[in-house]
Amino acid sequence: MQTKLINAFTAGTLALLTLGCQTSKGQATSQEIPSLKNTFKNDFLIGTALNAQQIEEKDPKAAALVPKQFNAATPENIMKAEVIHPQWNTYDFDLADKLIAYGKKNNIKINGHTLIWHSQMPAFARRIQDVDSFRTFFTNHINTVAKRFSGKIFSWDVVNEALNEDGTMRQSPFQQKLGNDFVTEAFRLAQAASPNTELYYNDYNNEQPAKRAGCIALIKKIQAAGVRIDGVGIQGHWHVGRIPLKDIEESILQYAALGLKVMITELDIEVLPRNFQGADVNQRMASSPSLNPYTNGLPDSVQQQLASDYEALFGLFLKHKDKITRVTFWGVNDGQSWLNDWPVRGRTNYPLLFDRQFKPKPAFYKVIATQTKS
Ligand code: XIL
Repeated sequence: MQTKLINAFTAGTLALLTLGCQTSKGQATSQEIPSLKNTFKNDFLIGTALNAQQIEEKDPKAAALVPKQFNAATPENIMKAEVIHPQWNTYDFDLADKLIAYGKKNNIKINGHTLIWHSQMPAFARRIQDVDSFRTFFTNHINTVAKRFSGKIFSWDVVNEALNEDGTMRQSPFQQKLGNDFVTEAFRLAQAASPNTELYYNDYNNEQPAKRAGCIALIKKIQAAGVRIDGVGIQGHWHVGRIPLKDIEESILQYAALGLKVMITELDIEVLPRNFQGADVNQRMASSPSLNPYTNGLPDSVQQQLASDYEALFGLFLKHKDKITRVTFWGVNDGQSWLNDWPVRGRTNYPLLFDRQFKPKPAFYKVIATQTKS
């Protein structure tokens, strides 16, 4: 009976997973956890960022959960230039190869992250002064890395975070040495090196009107040059109780109108205070309880707000499922989120759908329910 019931569910949209626990009386108390990837299988891919431990399957609980919940993954750090290209003539593909194998084994589409980004650049590249040498680094990096994973990887974030908040170009080493056209050039090189891979531009706050306008101008420039761009990533690092739903919706519509796939690529919802300026952040402040208020657990009121924020977001994503191809969370569980260490180190944050024990939070069930309601 129990098995039949589960089979019936598995065939349905929920595709329930069973953690079969029995009480001493033999009654089933099995906690049935719906699967995100199955629940949204007709809507969009559901992804997660994976860290090195998870890619190497050194984290048994993540190894059990990830293939059940996710059908897309983005490496959190291991394909960034500082890891994959540590010296002028040295590349380290070890972990990236493991990620490709992991994706193949578990039917998980891999999004390469990221070819060109001003952050996490290798030290040698940061030291290059001469423009010709810098251009050679830029060209060699894209050619070598994109070619290496051609046919193995589903997509690339070709350029990450090239824009300022006002929509102008960020004064990165790439912009300063190669000019604004470095973005188009990066896509041209990636397309030649990996012709069957989807190519994306990725940024944060690019749902905000000014930055969105800059992002649209950038995309139009790439398209006008006859260079392929397949999609745009809105990172989606938002704050509890302050989700810019209107801006997000407007952005989905405007980006899709350019003929692009729209993705939410690094979704998490910060619950800790951010009412300080970047420069004020130091470890003295980190130890101040006002900046780290929830070390003993998340108060119920915040837990509920987080759940309704996620519910509203997924309601919106479903409304535009014809335009959205993937929603990726930036981490598997709360304990593994970068937001425990950024922009202040050593805080206790709660931005994701699974708690530190990999248990689904109220937000998880609200997200699942958006689909079953739709
Ligand atoms: C973050 C990682 O999560 C951290 O582990 C690392 O220390 C810094 O980078 N935007 C991006 C991601 O595109 O690559 C960043 O990831 C988060 C912000």
